[in-house]
Amino acid sequence: MHAEPILKVENVVKKFGEVTALDGVSINVNRGEIVCFLGPSGCGKTTLLRVIGGFYEQEAGDVTLDGALINGIPPEKRDTVMFFQNYALFPHMTVYENVTYGLRVRRVPREAMKKQAGEILALIQLDGMEDRFPNQLSGGQQQRVALARALILNPKLLLLDEPLSNLDAKLRSYMREEIIKIRENLNLTIIFVTHDQEEAMSIADKIAVMRCGLIEQIGRPVDIYRYPESTYVANFVGSANFLKATVTGSDQSGSVEIDTHMGSLKMTAPRKEYSTGAKVVAVIRPESIGVSFEDSSNSSKSLKGEILRGSYLGSQMIYTIRVREETITVNLSDPGEEQIKKAGDTVYLTLPEYIHLIDAAKAGEFFD
Ligand SMILES: Nc1ncnc2c1ncn2[C@@H]1O[C@H](COP(=O)(O)OP(=O)(O)O)[C@@H](O)[C@H]1O
Ligand SMILES: [Mg+2]
Repeated sequence: MHAEPILKVENVVKKFGEVTALDGVSINVNRGEIVCFLGPSGCGKTTLLRVIGGFYEQEAGDVTLDGALINGIPPEKRDTVMFFQNYALFPHMTVYENVTYGLRVRRVPREAMKKQAGEILALIQLDGMEDRFPNQLSGGQQQRVALARALILNPKLLLLDEPLSNLDAKLRSYMREEIIKIRENLNLTIIFVTHDQEEAMSIADKIAVMRCGLIEQIGRPVDIYRYPESTYVANFVGSANFLKATVTGSDQSGSVEIDTHMGSLKMTAPRKEYSTGAKVVAVIRPESIGVSFEDSSNSSKSLKGEILRGSYLGSQMIYTIRVREETITVNLSDPGEEQIKKAGDTVYLTLPEYIHLIDAAKAGEFFD
């Protein structure tokens, strides 16, 4: 049986004067999932989160939570809790008072409150710190108190707007793990807004990539990375080589022949069928290309190129390489000293057997 999504957003429009912040957004979120809204600043992530949380009312469209339409219902009457970017603890209140604040507002009896607080504090490993004040806690502990304050309300949906963006890198990765653990322990459904693709990849079950008030693509991190439907999405997660190409032949087995600035390539593109003459962009990730400095492969697939630039980063070497009329980027991981070459040196590249193609219509900038 297919479970009903806990959240359904259908054709939501939200405008601020002349600005259309959400342009007819639809998305379903399943129970227990972590979904990330990912996209550049100004694409509508916060607005969508705030519509779901009830902080903005949409001009059109519906939001349904756990089967009930919640349009027009104020935030405190929804089973959602929002955790703001600049969380602030009450400085004059102890950890316990901060964490139980929402329960006191809801007039939960003292004993029940104590029990719930104990459970949440244990879950996020702050038991024993009930009587401390925020200024007696580290940044990470403060962050966890803020999270506990949201979690204690036992929301159906936890809404997090760039919750980790003010933390240093180490604390950020620690908090990612915490959030994943909390989700498992409480079987929570979480929507997590970020503009950081690595954060989205590491935490999300599904990523919704947003662009100008719309969701451009939604899928598992692996779908977004390996099968981006547009060059916009491919660019937003990781780096990519885009080869402008024309399909010159294809067959039912998924084999395609494309004509590119590097010459004619025969590859496998199993996801879709392409007709001869179709304009496409081939997406090739820099880490998926094999590099050799000797012409030993004697394979017809080996392409000869010239190094234009190389950057040694320790864990990898990033080469910019000219192959005929095309310039591509290649990452070589764990480079040995003998693999550090200079501009002008010759290299031999092996392209991956499988390739992903994007239709010209979804790669506008290449065909203008
Ligand atoms: N309260 C507001 N008043 C006017 N315009 C707003 C307001 N909030 C957001 N916007 C505009 O709506 C668009 C989407 O903003 P936002 O949802 O904050 O994007 P993001 O969170 O992805 O950075 C932007 O063009 C922004 O300037
Ligand atoms: Mg925002």
